[in-house]
Amino acid sequence: MTDLQIDTNGRLRHLLTLDGLGRERINALLDRAAQLRAGFRGGASSPRLLEGRTVVNLFFESSTRTRTSFELAARRLGAIVVNFDIANSSTSKGESLEDTLATLEAMDSDAFIVRHKENGTPARLAAHARKAAILNAGDGNHAHPTQGLLDLLTIRDHKNRIDGLKVVICGDIKHSRVARSDIHGLSALGVGEIHLCGPAALLPAANEFPHCQVDEDFDAALSAADVVIMLRLQKERMESLSGIRETDYFARYGLSHTRLARARSDALVMHPGPMNRGIEIAPDVADGPQSVILDQVANGIFVRMAVLAELLGR
Ligand code: NCD
Repeated sequence: MTDLQIDTNGRLRHLLTLDGLGRERINALLDRAAQLRAGFRGGASSPRLLEGRTVVNLFFESSTRTRTSFELAARRLGAIVVNFDIANSSTSKGESLEDTLATLEAMDSDAFIVRHKENGTPARLAAHARKAAILNAGDGNHAHPTQGLLDLLTIRDHKNRIDGLKVVICGDIKHSRVARSDIHGLSALGVGEIHLCGPAALLPAANEFPHCQVDEDFDAALSAADVVIMLRLQKERMESLSGIRETDYFARYGLSHTRLARARSDALVMHPGPMNRGIEIAPDVADGPQSVILDQVANGIFVRMAVLAELLGR
């Protein structure tokens, strides 16, 4: 998969996963995002690096923040953005995804932002694309690389480093592409420890992440944590709720104020959204002083600008 996203000259050709992307390339993207943010916040107009380029949003699953964020990122750099209307498209008449891609590419589209419930759909389209770049906006439980990048940027902003930190990820790890991209990104940048927490039914297979500690006891894992990343129960990706009752869930795995006190006093509270208040996170924690959830959202635009500039900028 990594071969598919790097061309023969060593340039980023598509963004499919953070797995194997490497420290240098990830840091360069984060630096570029921070630079674009400084310019934007300083009141400068963003460089029109995507002037005359066409970016197509191809979302086969619902999305609020990721789709809007990609659209704003592409527009700020001067691109034309098309939001492909899947429900009313020929895909619903049985056209294959490859034929849809070829058709839209023939209209001189330069990039496709792809979200799909099946693992590997963005890679499948990348293998088929003639010139266009494919950006993975979330495939099944496999990867969500721009979410991983925005999480890294948010942590780096507040902690000035990734190396040596203790990060706890709690919730539905099994179905989470966010957890997977976070783990790949954090590991590439030398994180100290990653603890994966949740009920047994929502934990990954023991051998999937040999460098992470997998734990059913959230309270124990929180001790001395620098960063706590909370995840939603992704019911749409579960075959059944595996006997999990939402009311019981909060008691064991919800991030309450008292529970957060087990982590370091300056621990960051993160959540990729959408949040289910009262199920995985207490409202006063989500809105509290340690929460950087809206910083994550804001950073999402700048990391997507950086990725688009890297892939399409002339
Ligand atoms: C996540 C996703 O779609 O993977 N949301 C996001 O993109 N910020 C997480 C989720 O759906 O729970």
